[in-house]
Amino acid sequence: MKHAKILGTGSYLPAQRVTNEELARRVDTSDEWITTRTGIKARHIAAEHEKTSDLAHAAALRALDDAGIAAGEIDLIIVATATPDMQFPATATIVQQKLGVSGCPAFDVQAVCAGFVYAMATANAYIKSGMAKKALVIGADTFSRIMDWSDRRTCVLFGDGAGAVVLGASDEAGIIHSKLHADGNYLSLLNTPAQIADGAICGTPFLQMDGQGVFKFAVKQLAAVADEVLQEAGYTAEQIDWLVPHQANKRIIDATAKHLGLPEEKIILTVQEHANTSAASIPLALDAGIKDGRIRRGQHLMMEGIGGGFAWGAMLVRY
Ligand code: ACO
Repeated sequence: MKHAKILGTGSYLPAQRVTNEELARRVDTSDEWITTRTGIKARHIAAEHEKTSDLAHAAALRALDDAGIAAGEIDLIIVATATPDMQFPATATIVQQKLGVSGCPAFDVQAVCAGFVYAMATANAYIKSGMAKKALVIGADTFSRIMDWSDRRTCVLFGDGAGAVVLGASDEAGIIHSKLHADGNYLSLLNTPAQIADGAICGTPFLQMDGQGVFKFAVKQLAAVADEVLQEAGYTAEQIDWLVPHQANKRIIDATAKHLGLPEEKIILTVQEHANTSAASIPLALDAGIKDGRIRRGQHLMMEGIGGGFAWGAMLVRY
């Protein structure tokens, strides 16, 4: 059986960078409050004309270039997003069209901030079963579009961006093990209820969140799922070279690292510059760590994410 190996990565951030100080001029907040609670200093916001598929497409082009692979060689496209361009079709098919290819399966995975881990696990299953040989897995979100910009409890936390990975069938180990979970009983902690019905948008189109409830649940489940992955794969935390976590909040990330006994030097942290980009945050961090030379071939990475649903998961990868 083949393994799914990372052949290349790429990412894209919109040009507009908004600092905490700039936000503090719009809502009653401060750099001090945001920094101490979350570690966030700035975020990137998509331009009016930029859709999730545009961010995804830009990241995909960079990942394909990095992998040295033409778009036409890709035989599976998965986009993890909670902010699709349209109600339907899937953003993945729009990205496919923008890449100038057609024919291969293309679909979205909706697991909010856990979306990238879900999408990678899905692509891994395709490759291991022989259903795909070269997969393009993208995490892309434009949460700025579902923010109530007058709500200081939520608008300071999120940003826009995209990250992409090309996975290829290989004889060498790549994705070693992954574990996914969901529990719909926690719907009320985090959601964006709007739906299109009878020619109108029903329910608020803005993100709703119980911040403290999310914090407690995330810390508990991320520790548990990381343990599960290590145990089932027969690895120990000492074998992890890099924690590449979902970047929601530095305090949540620190709690996971502490649980695993990993020092700060082993965390790829981008939340300070990107804020929470939902499904894009892990591949954005992964690409940053690879491109600046910290993550090297042969090293072991633990990726983990959690978000609305609730849905969560973790993955051990040999880069
Ligand atoms: N600036 C200033 N004050 C604020 C702000 C702000 N941006 N937001 C809230 N406050 C105020 C509140 O109104 C409250 O004031 P009050 O005491 O007068 O009522 C006070 O700060 C404390 O509010 P809390 O909600 O108790 O603050 P807390 O310490 O819990 O921090 C935070 C809030 C940062 C949201 C925290 O709960 C958290 O990080 N939760 C995790 C949320 C998260 O990461 N969500 C992302 C989506 S899910 C995921 O990706 C994992």
